[in-house]
Amino acid sequence: MDFRTINPTDLWVGVFYVKKINNIGRKMSVVIVVGAQWGDEGKGKVVDLLSGESDIVARYQGGANAGHTINLKGEQFIFHHIPSGILSPNTVCVIGNGVVIDPYGLMEEIELLNKKGIDVTGRLYISHKAHLIMPYHKLLDKVLEEDQGDGKIGTTLRGIGPAYADKYSRIGIRIVDLLDRDSFREKLRKNIKEKNRLLKTIYNAEELDEDKIINEYVEFDKKIDEFVKDTSVFLNSAIKEGKNLLLEGAQGTLLDIDYGTYPFVTSSNPISGGACTGLGIGPTKITSVIGVMKAYTTRVGRGPFPTEFIGEFADNFRELGSEYGSTTGRPRRCGWFDAVIANYSIRVNGIDGIAITKLDVLDTLDEIKICTCYQYNNKNIIHFPSDPKILQKCEPIYETHPGWKQLTKNVRKFEDLPEKAKKYLSRISELTETKIKIVGVGSERNESIRC
Ligand code: IMP
Ligand code: MG
Repeated sequence: MDFRTINPTDLWVGVFYVKKINNIGRKMSVVIVVGAQWGDEGKGKVVDLLSGESDIVARYQGGANAGHTINLKGEQFIFHHIPSGILSPNTVCVIGNGVVIDPYGLMEEIELLNKKGIDVTGRLYISHKAHLIMPYHKLLDKVLEEDQGDGKIGTTLRGIGPAYADKYSRIGIRIVDLLDRDSFREKLRKNIKEKNRLLKTIYNAEELDEDKIINEYVEFDKKIDEFVKDTSVFLNSAIKEGKNLLLEGAQGTLLDIDYGTYPFVTSSNPISGGACTGLGIGPTKITSVIGVMKAYTTRVGRGPFPTEFIGEFADNFRELGSEYGSTTGRPRRCGWFDAVIANYSIRVNGIDGIAITKLDVLDTLDEIKICTCYQYNNKNIIHFPSDPKILQKCEPIYETHPGWKQLTKNVRKFEDLPEKAKKYLSRISELTETKIKIVGVGSERNESIRC
């Protein structure tokens, strides 16, 4: 071939084409898995299912308030910090800068995995920019909640709110601060002094022991050293190499500090945008957003919940779905699937594929309802309201679907589902104008349908 005859534009197109082919060959993807309701949607199971196909799973916000439950070969794992991908032996897990880390909890999780024969060395990296939960954050979470009386949020008491508050007040302590012991001691001493003043004079609570805390955190620093990395550099290099990444959020859209049912929310951004800020990955790198939704709705803690069940049915349903918090053990509030919420989540997250979980929980019901819109002051509302007082007064408008009254646990293909279950799912897809990509029919990894 005579290269002199090639037009430079053709050459550029040719190179671009080869690059594209290479990427397709490597199936490069950066997928965000986001909770589309009030958390506990089963993100852990979805991430665990997809992590076999992923090189890296990275967690982008929250802390030990999260509880991701995975059942594998009859054994149950609950993770609070470590991404659920750790159970896939070839997957590297990352805890991003957006996460607030409780050293005690994190070390416990690492030790538990080691005990079960799962070595995390070389498979777990922690951002040096992540903030630390300090003992005073947990104490403040408790006294602040107690002080609120009826207005309390019902937090998990893991120190999440106070830790993020310190981050935004620019007095937080980050992993990177541990590197310089002298300045770390000085910074911590200053913080403890200030928090002790607050705890003693305003809340009449016990003061903290400065030296004890400093010694414990220095000890943690030694243990954590091998895991600390500039994870934004690591993740972006992996993207350049054409690797597959899963970005895992904790909690859910309606607990988001900006888009949730404020003030009954957590103090971070579980929405997909949080993945970019919480990991140092730019939005142009994201290839897809999977929204995880239960086939019904649940919520832990206080705050409005339009489709909530009441009375005996609520209690029976909770048992049917084993709906108890994985972090606090609190009974979860349960209700019907809410398409207003689903559509809101799809909008603020840019969800392009849905994972419906726990379909099997509905197997025995005679009829199943879907909320299609709300009624407020005799008007139909299709956009999720921002004011919790209005939301509290919204009346859900339901359509009723007949139950399929058949076990779905053993179904592995969408076409093998009972006709009425298919109709129920198709209706959710129609109302949300979004494709359902995964359906969960049991707690085990293999109890799933890929659509
Ligand atoms: P915090 O995140 O502990 O401050 O709690 C704030 C609110 O978020 C409370 O209503 C908690 O019950 C709720 N929450 C926090 N983490 C989770 C979670 O992982 N799943 C479900 N609810 C959560
Ligand atoms: Mg949970």
